[in-house]
Amino acid sequence: MEDLNQIIEDARASFASVTTPADLENEKAKYLGKSGAITALLKNMSKLSHEEKRAFGAKINSAKQAVEKLLEERRQEFANEKMQKRLSSEAIDVTLAGRTVGMGGLHPVIRTWMRIEEIFRTIGFDVADGPEIETDWFSFTALNNPPNHPARSMQDTFYIDMKDETGKQMPLRPHTSPMQVRYARQNRPPIKVIAPGRTYRVDSDATHSPMFHQVEGLWIAEDISFADLKGVYVDFLRRFFETEDLIVRFRPSYFPFTEPSAEVDMMFTTGPRKGKWLEISGSGEVHPNVVRNFGLDPEKYIGFAFGSGLERLTMLRYGIDDLRLFFEGDLRFLKQFN
Ligand code: PHE
Repeated sequence: MEDLNQIIEDARASFASVTTPADLENEKAKYLGKSGAITALLKNMSKLSHEEKRAFGAKINSAKQAVEKLLEERRQEFANEKMQKRLSSEAIDVTLAGRTVGMGGLHPVIRTWMRIEEIFRTIGFDVADGPEIETDWFSFTALNNPPNHPARSMQDTFYIDMKDETGKQMPLRPHTSPMQVRYARQNRPPIKVIAPGRTYRVDSDATHSPMFHQVEGLWIAEDISFADLKGVYVDFLRRFFETEDLIVRFRPSYFPFTEPSAEVDMMFTTGPRKGKWLEISGSGEVHPNVVRNFGLDPEKYIGFAFGSGLERLTMLRYGIDDLRLFFEGDLRFLKQFN
């Protein structure tokens, strides 16, 4: 009898001392396994009389059940511990604020971009798109701006570590004007196209950003004059700003790719921004050398081009005074346009 109680107490102590389920299963063998303590007692029973066997057998059985119960309890403890660990590691804080799915919106410059496309489509202009990593030829040379010409510094841009097939390093396009040449070489006159897109220059302050947007316009046919440029551009501005209360002036200027060239200034005649001239675009009649690079005869084909800043137009339309706001990604600013 001592033996049996001792075995149960030993089992209780050793089951309690193990720290992992695997160790527990090892301990189990010491009591219930083939060469365990209880199994050993059963083996000794063969020496006992029939009567003794019955009595002793029942006791061993109940001791065995007691050990099994202890084992089962300890197993359960391990299972509970495991479950607790899992529950606490997967716990969710139901008091945390929920994550809402935000509604996206259009950037104000993109609104301007789309608006310009709409307006020009109504007067028969196509819309074209082209590469931002350009060749030197399309960016400058084809636009009558040969290597080493001082006018190249008007559009100082970034160069990337990549050469075109002529071995010249490739710039990020400093303006959308390369699209005049790309489009005109692939389409027959009359050519009527706008090309909005991203452009790059080494410039950074309240009114200049190293990356900005322009829209190029080009109309080439047999008789497109400076008067057509004025008509189209003034009409565009009135429709863009939804007002007749603005005046436009074409101020003589210089671009290698146009002759004559003009800077376009506009002024509101009513409202909070009235009475101040603002420069919004370069423009002019396309230079004969450029028309030649279109693959066309400049004696036969003539027309105008313009290149306008989308940020500038957007700032005027919404009354924004710092261009950097467009690129800071501040939702308090951006939400106002959606
Ligand atoms: N490409 C010129 C610029 O970025 C603008 C321009 C375009 C001028 C077309 C004339 C004709 O400054």
